[in-house]
Amino acid sequence: MAFTNLEELAAHCADCQKCELGKTRTKLVFGTGNPNADLMFIGEAPGEQEDLTGTPFVGRAGQLLDKYLYAVDIDRKDVYIANILKCRPPQNRDPLPAEEDACIDYLREQVKLIRPKIIVCLGRISAMRLIKEDFKITKEHGTWFEKGGYLMTAVFHPAALLRDPRRKEDMLEDMKRIKEKLDELGGKA
Ligand code: URA
Repeated sequence: MAFTNLEELAAHCADCQKCELGKTRTKLVFGTGNPNADLMFIGEAPGEQEDLTGTPFVGRAGQLLDKYLYAVDIDRKDVYIANILKCRPPQNRDPLPAEEDACIDYLREQVKLIRPKIIVCLGRISAMRLIKEDFKITKEHGTWFEKGGYLMTAVFHPAALLRDPRRKEDMLEDMKRIKEKLDELGGKA
């Protein structure tokens, strides 16, 4: 696969049937934001609202993410947001390894085209897939890793913060550090 831009890649995966989720999705959720973003967020998989609209992080978790972006002075339209899976798993169950395997090359191509300075994994599933298999979100959130030439970190998934608001202070601290790092690197957001 060699694509010259995100539109070409999006068109390529629009009718994807590489896994069973192709049969149950309403809309494929490709990703959204600035194609030249310095900062990229990668979540787990679309939920109900994302499946209906075709846009990542627009439901309750997405609205909470928006609040953190606002709090640290990051403009959502300057970043790029995508997920490990492009289609919603039924009842929002965790992605199956076979679904991740079927989908992950699309994300790899997206990252190659965007070339962000920083990648932020939203939650454990994304961090375990992209940073390391045994990633422990409670211990390792906010820690910096370098992988494949990208600077990466993970924060709590906003849906997890809705379930357990005690993590909200940690989330704010992590987001502040991400913004600081981006500024240090001369990135825009
Ligand atoms: N949760 C995710 O991980 N991704 C979305 O797009 C929405 C909710």
